[in-house]
Amino acid sequence: MPTLSSSALIAELEASGLLGRGGAGFPVGRKWRAVAERAGGGAVVLANGAEGEPLSLKDRSLMAARPHLVIDGALLAARAVGANDIIFYVGSEHRTAEAALRRALAERPGDVRGRARIVAAPAGYVAGEESAAVHYVNAGDARPTTTPPRPFERGVGGRPTLVQNVESLALAALIARRGHAWYQGLGHGRARGIGLLTVSGAVNHAGVHEVELGSTLSDAAAAAGGLNGDVGAVLLGGYFGGWADLHEQWGLPLDAPSMRARGLALGCGVVHFLPSDTCGVEATSRVMTYLASQSARQCGPCVFGLSAIAGATQRLAAQSPQPGDLDRLVRWSGQVTGRGACHHPDGAAALMNSALQVFADDFAGHQHRRCLTIAEPARVAVA
Ligand SMILES: Cc1cc2nc3c(=O)[nH]c(=O)nc-3n(C[C@H](O)[C@H](O)[C@H](O)COP(=O)(O)O)c2cc1C
Ligand code: SF4
Repeated sequence: MPTLSSSALIAELEASGLLGRGGAGFPVGRKWRAVAERAGGGAVVLANGAEGEPLSLKDRSLMAARPHLVIDGALLAARAVGANDIIFYVGSEHRTAEAALRRALAERPGDVRGRARIVAAPAGYVAGEESAAVHYVNAGDARPTTTPPRPFERGVGGRPTLVQNVESLALAALIARRGHAWYQGLGHGRARGIGLLTVSGAVNHAGVHEVELGSTLSDAAAAAGGLNGDVGAVLLGGYFGGWADLHEQWGLPLDAPSMRARGLALGCGVVHFLPSDTCGVEATSRVMTYLASQSARQCGPCVFGLSAIAGATQRLAAQSPQPGDLDRLVRWSGQVTGRGACHHPDGAAALMNSALQVFADDFAGHQHRRCLTIAEPARVAVA
């Protein structure tokens, strides 16, 4: 395919329907257009490879295995939005990925090397949030900032900044090469395109798997070598996603719009199968404790709300609840949503709400100091 002009490239991405893979599923072409319209040639591209989600491996695996594809995507984005500077924001713990990117950049011509740099993102869940990433590059502080202005309006060095997940950039590079019709030709049902999943838990081959979007949950299990035991629930979309009942969702199409319609989220592509002999209250307590520990401690509802929610789930998990803990959990989860400078409390509350639904009987049992999983494990096998 001949080199596309910037506007033709953005139009190609819009026609492809590519959605961002960092979690929110925002249309990639629309974001590039918004930055291009503001940039006047002075924009910045921040390729987000922080990958702070504990259950996700896809971004570090992609950067390690296909660093040139990620760089191609970032260069195309820079051309399309009018950016001179490219920042690869890579989790400081993702050493293999960082080394691969560094080697690949060294193989590029001097003008590319001169415009691109790698910034090590500090460990932690919130460091990958877009305003936190910009704040870290600007001031060495990876805490989110109040928005607006959003990074696409005023970001790195006060300039319009395109913050784009590294998988989104790699897919943009493939679409630029092969055209939007190629991407639209992939996928099942109404879903279009491909995506990376990190599949873990009760499967035979945990790891990163590329699937056509619209593949079902059962396809994801098959791609990971099949389930290796009885499974009752699955965590979809990572710690910012939610729990789902496996038997209800076994045929669920994995695709952001289809999942949103069912109140679920593809997020960053995490699929974690929870073995039936693991208590859902216990598993949720671990996730909530982690998320509370990751608050950037700037907004009251996030700091106090998440720690209160984590405390109640811990007491319930330990079968030593205070009277009314379960009722308070329900109330608090509704109260923290939309109350932080960033979406951290929203994601945590969504996870908690999903747990209260999927593990409703288990939570009720724990409020009465009885664990149903240990007392009478569910032994329903998935075909
Ligand atoms: C608490 C929090 C943590 C996040 N961490 C990441 C991350 O590690 N990597 C990432 O690409 N996006 C992360 N995001 C999403 C980014 O804010 C942003 O939406 C994304 O990088 C944009 O890229 P995309 O449009 O290609 O998805 C996070 C968001 C939140 C609220
Ligand atoms: S909502 Fe939480 S994580 Fe987000 S900025 Fe406020 S304190 Fe930090």
